[in-house]
Amino acid sequence: MIIKLDAIDSTNDFLKELIQKQEVDNFTVVTAKKQTKGKGQMGAQWHTEDSKNLITSILIKETLPNIDAIFELNIATALAIVHTLKKLDIPDLSIKWPNDIMSGNKKIAGILIENVFQEHGTIVSVIGIGLNVNQTDFTLLPKASSLKNITGKDWDIETILLQIVSELEALCKDIKTKNSTNLWQHYHNWLYKIGKPVAFENASQGKFMGIIQKVQPNGLLEVLLENDTTQTYGIKEIAML
Ligand code: BTN
Repeated sequence: MIIKLDAIDSTNDFLKELIQKQEVDNFTVVTAKKQTKGKGQMGAQWHTEDSKNLITSILIKETLPNIDAIFELNIATALAIVHTLKKLDIPDLSIKWPNDIMSGNKKIAGILIENVFQEHGTIVSVIGIGLNVNQTDFTLLPKASSLKNITGKDWDIETILLQIVSELEALCKDIKTKNSTNLWQHYHNWLYKIGKPVAFENASQGKFMGIIQKVQPNGLLEVLLENDTTQTYGIKEIAML
């Protein structure tokens, strides 16, 4: 089912409130033309021009076999978007850890997954996706771009959404059946700058160079440093410059 809203504070918050009030089917989709309090990663705001982009939240339940598999939903979502965009011939796609979708060096989509832990031990997840589709003005967001800016043409937002949901349903089966080896392999194949020297910054080390080795099953980033040691970082502990 698709619930189409004109304006809402945040589709993630709307869906989280809905599941507290009533039974909601697996893969229920909420979209909005406009968000007044769109949420990004790490408490940031998600700004997007009205009606021009994909703003959606998808409910996923009965999928995570246990809490250890939680990062796999990030992977499945990122891959669902990348597989869809690949079919649309969007060039130079990659996934910047943990789950920004890039075309070249520009971010075109972001993912915010919020997990709700229920009394009987099950996990229900709200998969929030913001994909820049037909917006062309990124004056305030110099590191972002959109499908239109990359390809020069307008895209039908709902068609793209339906493709992402269908890819996501297929990928979630691999999580449910604990067949995640493929997911991990594809994720690493698409990982931005894997194996290449990149500049990082964090509170304890300042600016430094490192080479991304892989992402661990718990979602931590493994980086080879200049002194030949390997360090792991959580999402809040490091920024890629
Ligand atoms: C990021 O910071 O990269 C994540 C952005 C996620 C934005 C989407 S838009 C739909 C959904 N509702 C929200 O409030 N946020 C997510």
